[in-house]
Amino acid sequence: MKSFSLLIGALLAVASFGAVAQATAPIVIKFSHVVAADTPKGKGAERFKQLAEERTKGRVKVEVYANSVLYKDKEEMEALQLGAVQMLAPSLAKFGPLGVKEFEVFDLPYIFPDKAVLQRVEEGPVGASLFKKLEPKGIKGLAYWDNGFKVMSANRPLHQPADFKGLKMRIQSSKVLDAQMRALGALPQVLAFSEVYQALQTGVVDGTENPPSNLYTQKMNEVQKFVSVTNHGYLGYAVIVNKKFWDDLPADIRTALEGAMKDATRYTNAIAQTENDDALAKVKATGKTEVYVPTAAESAALKKALQPVQDEMKSRIGKDVIEEVQKEAVALGVK
Ligand code: LMR
Repeated sequence: MKSFSLLIGALLAVASFGAVAQATAPIVIKFSHVVAADTPKGKGAERFKQLAEERTKGRVKVEVYANSVLYKDKEEMEALQLGAVQMLAPSLAKFGPLGVKEFEVFDLPYIFPDKAVLQRVEEGPVGASLFKKLEPKGIKGLAYWDNGFKVMSANRPLHQPADFKGLKMRIQSSKVLDAQMRALGALPQVLAFSEVYQALQTGVVDGTENPPSNLYTQKMNEVQKFVSVTNHGYLGYAVIVNKKFWDDLPADIRTALEGAMKDATRYTNAIAQTENDDALAKVKATGKTEVYVPTAAESAALKKALQPVQDEMKSRIGKDVIEEVQKEAVALGVK
């Protein structure tokens, strides 16, 4: 009898220890992304980690996996939906394959005259409606992070639209970017971000587009002799979480994380422009890559060459989404 009660006591002790351990084990958020740590998105992820752990007093632990070390472009979205990771911040150009092609409005050349219009779109009905479209896919949108306007690069000068003719240009998985490159007579090629440097180095592709912070931190300038500061298109991010994970969080934890995300967003968007300006200056300082700023006439010619993309993509993105963006520009008096 004695040994039986000892056994029961031992089992109860193990069970209660397990329960205590369970109760005190932190909630882990795996935050995976594909860019270098010293980029706006990389620094934003670290800032979210710091604020989330501080404000939940350690009840949440954020593990940041940068530079595609955990998942590459295509894999990460699937991993999030499966719950293998809890948080991502993919480029807005990468939601087409998920079936939410309206995000590609952000890829339209020259659709945003400046960041003020962009911010109004993200914080207004368009931004909210795009996040709503993610929810049936088991994804919840939390924030939009900035990484600014893109430059073009190749191993030949890119001054005129004709200079792009015949170039194999790496793009993100966006039909709008495919149409953009074809409008210039270039041959678009979708590649994961982690494969771009090697593809440029080996000649699989001839050139690409990205904000300077990505170009520099991936050392693309080592294998691209010419950069043209076209600012022809925008690159930003949607910070997203696995919806079930987020909805199942204790309410107080979720509230603390919402506040941490709000402040991390403010921080990321505040540093993005400077980070990109600094990166472009560093590319120039190497003396190995020509950083060319197109003349007003050359910029006008590029804009004209890319104008048809908006009409061509209207049916894919939705006339209403494009018109809503244009309305914001008019409202700010910049159209
Ligand atoms: C790219 O694939 O070029 C970018 O989306 C990478 C990133 O996340 O900034």
